[in-house]
Amino acid sequence: MELFREVFNPWGQQVLIGISWVLLYAAIVAGAAFIIGHAVYAGFIAPKETPPSDAEVKKAAPDAPAHITRHTLTTRLSHWVLAAAVLTLLVTGVVPILGIKFPWVTLHWIAGLVLATYTVFHTVHVLARRNLGSMWIGAGDVKEMALRIKAMAAPTGVDIPKSGKWGTENKAFHHMTAAAGLAVVATGLLMMLRVNTIFATANPYILPDSTWGILFVFHGLGAVVFVGAIMVHIYFALHPEKRWITWSMIRGWISPRDYVWHFDPVKWPVSSKSAPVSGSPRREAAASANRDQ
Ligand code: HEM
Repeated sequence: MELFREVFNPWGQQVLIGISWVLLYAAIVAGAAFIIGHAVYAGFIAPKETPPSDAEVKKAAPDAPAHITRHTLTTRLSHWVLAAAVLTLLVTGVVPILGIKFPWVTLHWIAGLVLATYTVFHTVHVLARRNLGSMWIGAGDVKEMALRIKAMAAPTGVDIPKSGKWGTENKAFHHMTAAAGLAVVATGLLMMLRVNTIFATANPYILPDSTWGILFVFHGLGAVVFVGAIMVHIYFALHPEKRWITWSMIRGWISPRDYVWHFDPVKWPVSSKSAPVSGSPRREAAASANRDQ
């Protein structure tokens, strides 16, 4: 299987021009296989979970307010801007490759600039809130995920640990899309020099063909990762069992029931005053570790 696309230039030299689009089809097939596999597992194999009763919710999170903030307004607005930009980039970047031709480049780089602006905004926002550590994957996260996978393979007899505000899978998804995002933004900004924009007229000779080839490879790889990742992301966003998460990205909050059902209050402590929960030393340590998350 060819992994790259190459052409012969007028001097008979072989020049790299990007990744093979077989990788794009592979990402679509992998994304679809994951979605079908999960749908079968969730529909027919996984034991049906019952939500905690009112008494259990009260006992596990006595201080929890009726609306537990999960995403601030800034985070929600920036997420939906990001979603619009990425969907536009996917449609304008990938659909022409799949055979439906239309003038895509201008819309593509405009959406690309929105993604680039989001990337800078998100980085500054996270640094300003001193929130850099919230996505760190530690040994505890890996163990937690391993136990969850074990429980999926043998759904009974394994006590599945609940996560803090961000599960290991969320963090892994964040890192994968962050790496792919940085790749497409960095290469895309340079690739804008090859097309006419409001900033400059096209000049493909500004860099040697071999350098363009490498940039196109990284742009293509980032694009392919996005295709698979966004397919799975949208599937989970629409899945009936996960819709409470999607609602939290619209309304900003989750209910105490979902909080107790899906999270470990020690790892993600909340209180009616939004202050770190006081109590046992373990809770206080966890509260301080989760501060600002
Ligand atoms: C989800 C993100 C993105 C996806 C899926 C994506 C996808 C693609 C694909 C598949 C191509 C064709 C590459 C090839 O022929 O080998 C392309 C070209 C291009 N992309 Fe992106 N892209 C993304 C982000 C960006 C960003 C952030 C920018 C700019 C800031 C950008 C600017 C460009 C430009 C200017 C081209 C045309 C280059 C040329 O044909 O000379 N892209 N993109």
